[in-house]
Amino acid sequence: MASRTESLAGALPATLEWRDDTLYLLDQTRLPLQIVVERQASVEEVWESIRALKVRGAPAIGVAGAYGLCVAMQGSRNAGVAAFRARLAEQAAYLASARPTAVNLRWAVQRLQDRIAGHDDAGSSSTLYDVLLDEARRIHDEDQALCEGIGRNGQALIRPGCGILTHCNAGALATTGIGTATAPMYLAHRSGTPFRVYADETRPLLQGARLTAFELQRAGIDVTLLTDSMAAATMQRGLVDLVIVGTDRVAANGDFANKIGTLGVAILAKHFGIPMYVACPSSTLDLATRAGEDIVIEERAGDEVTSFGARRTAPEGVAVRNPSFDVTPHTLVAGFITERGLVGPPFEQNLSSLFGMG
Ligand code: MRU
Repeated sequence: MASRTESLAGALPATLEWRDDTLYLLDQTRLPLQIVVERQASVEEVWESIRALKVRGAPAIGVAGAYGLCVAMQGSRNAGVAAFRARLAEQAAYLASARPTAVNLRWAVQRLQDRIAGHDDAGSSSTLYDVLLDEARRIHDEDQALCEGIGRNGQALIRPGCGILTHCNAGALATTGIGTATAPMYLAHRSGTPFRVYADETRPLLQGARLTAFELQRAGIDVTLLTDSMAAATMQRGLVDLVIVGTDRVAANGDFANKIGTLGVAILAKHFGIPMYVACPSSTLDLATRAGEDIVIEERAGDEVTSFGARRTAPEGVAVRNPSFDVTPHTLVAGFITERGLVGPPFEQNLSSLFGMG
């Protein structure tokens, strides 16, 4: 793995980039202290980068997975077409296994497979590789457009002077565009609307502190960092008018998975009468999953909880739970901000009529 470290003063590199037939990732585990861009030399490296959260956030891991499949297939450009197709299926399953909750990863590698399935065998494996890369580039371009659409459709929710609470990072760093939950914020800021964002730090891996506070501050947006346990008191003081979060998967009935702690924020928002919106690109909508209880929740290693950064903070041998996500029931959601518009209840009906097949 070759890496390049940049000065913190410069512009932030893209979350990921495909250049000269090579995938580069901004290593988010090092933010906000270091900006390091890593070349991904093999599909195993891409898998590990997704697993280790070097690239993270549902849309970004979808795009990384799509390019990762291209990396996996580079060595098969001279193979026979049947061997190419067999390896494609195997490598798609391997990449999708890196993280189970965000549907974007599975959706993206499936899109590449579907594109190849619909392609006749007349050409060579090298032609099939070009088709794969074309589809990965499309997913990448579309991701940026989805973020813009969410921004346009959510911007009006941000009233002058309002306070917005967000959890985890559903920002530019979680996508290849202007983020999902942050997209309305970036557009409102660009048009001169004053507002303040409260960013939950998001234990155990601190995506709110390390990433959301970092990117909003760099953009000149008024952002205040909270520990997760401060959200209730901040709402009680009347400082929060609106909650906007991202999501890793929205089920057909509107239940949604997002970073652990989102459910608590949703319950608090309901208690204090604060509307909670979920920024959801169509790439994160999973109409094939009926309800939240059917969403697989990733369990991560206990040492993420027993330490704070590199420092151990819990006794050796203590039992630990570390589910990376939770599921919020749709009854706590005011609406979904999608690229096609705001979707209110009844969610099952409205999501299906806006995004369903028929
Ligand atoms: O574990 P992470 O950092 O990948 O979790 C990210 C989140 O939970 C985000 O809120 C979600 O993926 C939406 S990103 C637009």
